Amino acid sequence: MANKQGALSVQKILKMKESGEKITMATAYDYPTARLVDAAGVDMILVGDSLGTVVQGRPTTLGVRLQDMIYHAEMVQRAAARALVVVDVPFPYCQLGPAKAVRACAKILKETNATAVKIEGGAKRAETVRAVVDAGIPVVGHCGLVPQSVKASGYKVQRDVDRLLEDVKAIEASGAFAIVLECVQRDYAAEASRALSVPTIGIGSGAECDGQVLVFHDIFNFTDHGPEGVPKHARVYRDLHRTIDEGLREYIADVKSLRFPGDAESFGATRGN
Ligand code: KIV
Repeated sequence: MANKQGALSVQKILKMKESGEKITMATAYDYPTARLVDAAGVDMILVGDSLGTVVQGRPTTLGVRLQDMIYHAEMVQRAAARALVVVDVPFPYCQLGPAKAVRACAKILKETNATAVKIEGGAKRAETVRAVVDAGIPVVGHCGLVPQSVKASGYKVQRDVDRLLEDVKAIEASGAFAIVLECVQRDYAAEASRALSVPTIGIGSGAECDGQVLVFHDIFNFTDHGPEGVPKHARVYRDLHRTIDEGLREYIADVKSLRFPGDAESFGATRGN
């Protein structure tokens, strides 16, 4: 599918690695958020299946459906004038073998007009990644901690460098044009980044990755993380949780005390006023 004029291409993302320019990626799940992320100049927007936890309020990403991803990704793609939009393939399409994965990825691209899909998993997923790439669909890999396998492996920092290198090399060889590295010990992520010709996009994997990705709701403390607080790998750049909470409390107080609506927000007797 042709990109809009001015939109970043897969080739441009590959060139950023060559030239040493760091790549930025952030998640977005709806039109107004994607407009902001795109206009600020973030290079890639990920419609992550993290929407299962941060938007749908589920405990894991496992319950997210293909139609949920398509619903959100279509809005995001419409908002993106420059950023390259990547859509997560939800559990379990890529776990069911190449044919089911290709069908799901093709549906995502056809119904959203996004540029690429993201597939979780290492060497075991290589055949599937190759089949999707062979179908003409650009793929971002995802190695290290893979949330779709949480029930088997839990949420743990990844410290097995041999396995990591085997995984990322297999996914690169299968044709992925970038690989997300999630919660990988930083020196191992650095080694993987040096070993690959495609960019690594880190989350909780140190500064030596070729780019970084954060979940929008973490950047803005939008999700109430409870007593555990914001995840260690995230940095809160602005506190939306507090701003929205304060605004809502002021609105309630104003309505209760008759300070809202005032003259400015009310229509008088003359039409149009
Ligand atoms: O679903 C998601 O948002 C992700 C990022 C955490 C990389 O996969």
